[in-house]
Amino acid sequence: MSSTEQRVAVVTGAARGIGAATAVRLAAEGRAVAVIDLDEAACKDTVETITKAGGKAIAVGCDVADEAQVEAAVARIAEELGAPTILVNNAGVLRDNLLFKMSALDWDTVMNVHLRGAFLMTKACQKHMVDAGFGRVVNLSSSSALGNRGQANYSAAKAGLQGFTKTLAKELGKFGITANAVAPGFIVTEMTKATAERVGMGFEDFQNAAASMIPVQRVGNPDDIANTIAFFTGEAAGFVSGQVLYVAGGPLD
Ligand SMILES: NC(=O)c1ccc[n+]([C@@H]2O[C@H](COP(=O)([O-])OP(=O)(O)OC[C@H]3O[C@@H](n4cnc5c(N)ncnc54)[C@H](O)[C@@H]3O)[C@@H](O)[C@H]2O)c1
Repeated sequence: MSSTEQRVAVVTGAARGIGAATAVRLAAEGRAVAVIDLDEAACKDTVETITKAGGKAIAVGCDVADEAQVEAAVARIAEELGAPTILVNNAGVLRDNLLFKMSALDWDTVMNVHLRGAFLMTKACQKHMVDAGFGRVVNLSSSSALGNRGQANYSAAKAGLQGFTKTLAKELGKFGITANAVAPGFIVTEMTKATAERVGMGFEDFQNAAASMIPVQRVGNPDDIANTIAFFTGEAAGFVSGQVLYVAGGPLD
């Protein structure tokens, strides 16, 4: 890469929440960013925030669990922005329920978005990374990977992403590619808001209850995670690979 060339970063699920904050942060670091989400129109705000700040971004509609859509999206990104060599697998959904009430569809939906989605996106982007002799993959795990009531599907997917990350690090390291996972604790987004609604609590009370259990005595915000992802995707982080970093305001039991 010449010093004037911009690296291209792909962030999935970047219409809002952690993905949007990450896309904005990576653009501020000088990356050209492909903002992927299910609905291309929903990516508009993130793209506008980046371009208004002088950065470069495009909106890409894509269901990360759909192989044909992923291949088309990555081909379009390579064509319009250049070879994608930074990938943040952030797209996610919840289908929480106690095991005895969880449907097979709830299980499959969560596995498909988190695990199949990360697999398809990484497979499509890795050939560009291998050609470039440089790559950074960051997968969004979760503190729920350690087990969480009502999340048999989600905790299994988030633990699965940790194994996926370590395997990528082992297979792809020799091509200059690192892979790491960030495992957030409680972050204020639409996802945690929906959980508060599901358990019948006001969002503010839900956040206060969570904060009281966290050593730093506050809940996290999307920028807490974006900052960590900026480190892992940075040029200087080439010797950090196969790691899982819990970003949760304290150690987890
Ligand atoms: N918020 C938290 O406390 C928290 C904690 C740990 C881990 N995480 C993880 O961080 C990631 C982002 O979470 P968030 O809180 O910002 O969630 P969010 O619900 O606010 O945003 C998720 C985004 O992913 C998109 N998405 C869902 N399915 C998709 C698909 N098939 N293809 C493309 N895009 C899709 C959604 O449209 C949405 O814009 C998720 O992987 C989540 O599991 C979040």
